[in-house]
Amino acid sequence: MSYTTLLTELSDRILTITINRPEKLNALNKQVIEELSSIMDEVYQNPEIGAVIITGSGPKSFVAGADIAEFMQLNASQGSELAAKGQSMVFDKIENCPKPVFAAVNGFALGGGCELAMSCHVRYASETAKFGQPEVNLGLIPGYGGTQRLTQLVGKGRAMELLMSAQMIGAQEALQYGLVNKVVTPEELIAACRATLQVVLTKAPLAVAACIKSANAVWNEQQNGYQVEIEEFGKCFETKDMQEGVTAFLEKRKAVFTGQ
Ligand code: COA
Repeated sequence: MSYTTLLTELSDRILTITINRPEKLNALNKQVIEELSSIMDEVYQNPEIGAVIITGSGPKSFVAGADIAEFMQLNASQGSELAAKGQSMVFDKIENCPKPVFAAVNGFALGGGCELAMSCHVRYASETAKFGQPEVNLGLIPGYGGTQRLTQLVGKGRAMELLMSAQMIGAQEALQYGLVNKVVTPEELIAACRATLQVVLTKAPLAVAACIKSANAVWNEQQNGYQVEIEEFGKCFETKDMQEGVTAFLEKRKAVFTGQ
């Protein structure tokens, strides 16, 4: 499949998705949202893809937000629809993806960009990254899950401060807040994501998927996370990978997982 606003590269089972509108600091317009939705469907379905890195094109920006130019003329129900569609088409799809998705935050991660990074399972940032939810500058609030995921990741006090003040924080502060897992130089960013994902790709894929599902259940009010964990734990016993993992341990050899 070819994309107009995304660059893609698959190597060693890791798909790197680069949002490619550098002249607009990679802002998320309707087309980017639609293409991200399609590519996430591809990620779910294509067995050749084991993991994903999402990043932004150019040295300046990861994603500088939703495309503000598309906001004029929307009424309340159209605004709600924009948020709901974006959440289900992209942000929830990334969060619930059974394969690990890392954000490589290479610059501005503002508004929808910060929300995109937060929907990923793990965030690594370059030293130049800047995070913020500046929507109140526009008379808006985040609509792609930002009020929820920011609060989950950094706690209520820090989230409230960022949401209400629209202030940006740098990579080191984001690290201190727990918003990102690691800060590296811009040159090291993709390699650092790849290095961790290469480790994850040696693990049992169904077990990795079960970790994602169970950890996400913490914030799903329709689910009891402990019960989800119990069920996912049980399901592991019916996988060939669990047989292989336990046998390999007992035979003192490295396990070879097949994702079955
Ligand atoms: N939506 C649409 N266009 C955007 C955008 C966004 N979220 N963010 C940046 N752009 C565009 C600018 O309009 C400009 O386009 P132009 O050259 O055609 O005028 C281009 O990207 C470069 O941005 P510019 O503002 O000139 O760069 P800067 O270095 O001076 O400032 C930012 C960088 C990120 C501080 C600034 O662009 C900004 O505040 N962006 C909006 C962030 C935001 O509010 N995001 C939340 C949206 S809900």
